[in-house]
Amino acid sequence: MGAMPEEIFLISSKIENKEIVSIGNREYISGKLCGVKVVTVFSRWGKVASAQTATTLITKFNVDKIIFTGVAGGADRTLDIGDVVISRDLIQHDMDASPIPAFAKFEIPLLGITHFKADPELIRMAESAAYYFLDTVNTQDIPLTILDHYQITRPKIVIGTIATGDEFIADKLKIAELRTQIPGLQCIEMEGASVAQVCHEHLIPFVVIRAISDKADSTAIHDFPNFVKHIVSHYSLGIVSGILANFTKD
Ligand code: ADE
Repeated sequence: MGAMPEEIFLISSKIENKEIVSIGNREYISGKLCGVKVVTVFSRWGKVASAQTATTLITKFNVDKIIFTGVAGGADRTLDIGDVVISRDLIQHDMDASPIPAFAKFEIPLLGITHFKADPELIRMAESAAYYFLDTVNTQDIPLTILDHYQITRPKIVIGTIATGDEFIADKLKIAELRTQIPGLQCIEMEGASVAQVCHEHLIPFVVIRAISDKADSTAIHDFPNFVKHIVSHYSLGIVSGILANFTKD
């Protein structure tokens, strides 16, 4: 899964024996990638769009794992554009039922948790796939001028907390506030924790992999579209193919 066409179009282009099914305004592309049976789809932006797409993948296509790949705004100050964050856990930063004393801030009512944990095995596979991809990032099909522009030379990989909300953040005060409220926060985006909630409720292992496209401050409105246009699809294909190399061929 990705949220935008740019996040998955290279993956879709490599799928063999494609079958395309349209459901609820989405195109689900099934077939084989690296010899493994897959379904790829872009969900569109936000928690509702991504939750309904994840639900369809699970209930109509019977997928047994979900890998979400795309971009995020950096929250931790040590992250640079081009670094990769792999979800250890995910939180919905705009969930707040705490005026009702029974609920803590960020707690999902009735689930009784604030963080959804990603699958340890998928995290491990994503980490080694990301190391392999980023070691060779200069030899990928990404324009060198773009890599130079963002000074992407040896990108870092971090495993940590990702926060999701229905808001594109381009404000240094807002991102500073989230950094203070959510200990260990690495990056923010708009879909991961809603996909995580659906997977949690259906007992489906998942991982979210995010390339940092911007720093969620006023520079984000320029950095985000450029990174999405030129770079993210290479990250998605490189890392997802590396993960699939671990699976038995169907
Ligand atoms: N995805 C990528 N950059 C983002 C940002 N700054 N805010 C929310 N989602 C994002």
